[in-house]
Amino acid sequence: MTDAPKIREPARAARTPSRHDPESSPGSRHGPHAIAGPATVHIWEGSLLASAPARRAARSLLSNREKDRADRFVHQRHRRRYTVAQACLRRVVGRFLDIRPEAVRFRFGAFGKPFVPGGPAFNQSHSGERIMIAVARGGRLGIDVEEIRPVPLMLRIARRRLAPDEARALLAAGGEERTARFFRIWTRKEAFLKALGVGLTHPLRNFSVDIAPDTTRALIDAGDLREDPDRWFLGSVPSAAGTAAALALDRPGVRLRPLDFDPAQR
Ligand SMILES: CC(C)(COP(=O)(O)OP(=O)(O)OC[C@H]1O[C@@H](n2cnc3c(N)ncnc32)[C@H](O)[C@@H]1OP(=O)(O)O)[C@@H](O)C(=O)NCCC(=O)NCCS
Repeated sequence: MTDAPKIREPARAARTPSRHDPESSPGSRHGPHAIAGPATVHIWEGSLLASAPARRAARSLLSNREKDRADRFVHQRHRRRYTVAQACLRRVVGRFLDIRPEAVRFRFGAFGKPFVPGGPAFNQSHSGERIMIAVARGGRLGIDVEEIRPVPLMLRIARRRLAPDEARALLAAGGEERTARFFRIWTRKEAFLKALGVGLTHPLRNFSVDIAPDTTRALIDAGDLREDPDRWFLGSVPSAAGTAAALALDRPGVRLRPLDFDPAQR
């Protein structure tokens, strides 16, 4: 590859642990990633809108399994979003590994988290037409983006599904500030659960996050997940107007960098 990417780094120490991965078992979860110094996380945010040629190019990168999944979507826009998102993810991971996007072989954790053995840590999120991808050399990484939208029964959801302190923080605000707090909490919680690979199978009320806008240490209490908050970066990251986004990585120090190429334009 002539245009060697700045993000490409040796794959030897890079891992995306999953529940199947012995390095992510509770007994060793702080072992391989407890490396001094800030970790660099490259983040890309883009749109899933794509021209017909761009959609065809995206589909050509997908595995048969991914094409089958795309074809099962009832609505064309969902098929497009999935296809474009998956192609972008393949381009990012392929670039990191210095292989063709279509050559990337994903494997999946017990709850569906994709990873590449020996590859970088990465995670992807999409909401409406927005997509975000985060990639780092290693560690347990999660990203979540949400379009900010009205949430019917927000307080009821908060009381039933969020931790009591989070629900109280929502009650204490009104109007737009309440909605902003809701999505700040939601994206932080989902990013954390995505980093762990368990997704929303884990009850959101069993752990709590800080709602302060600028904190990078938003994990207050991991509850039964038995993670040490001091070892985690968790916080909001910049995203397009009308969206909220958060990133989680099991390293306390993180350097955020934009991706040095646009995976939607390849
Ligand atoms: C992970 C989860 C929270 C994602 O929800 P979502 O609303 O689709 O959220 P996002 O858009 O932020 O993330 C989706 C992406 O995260 C990644 N992902 C999938 N499962 C994941 C997991 N368990 N942990 C972390 N990331 C995951 C994929 O790249 C996925 O993209 P895709 O749906 O286009 O393949 C949700 O799917 C979940 O709770 N999954 C676990 C339980 C489950 O349903 N498992 C079924 C498969 S075993």
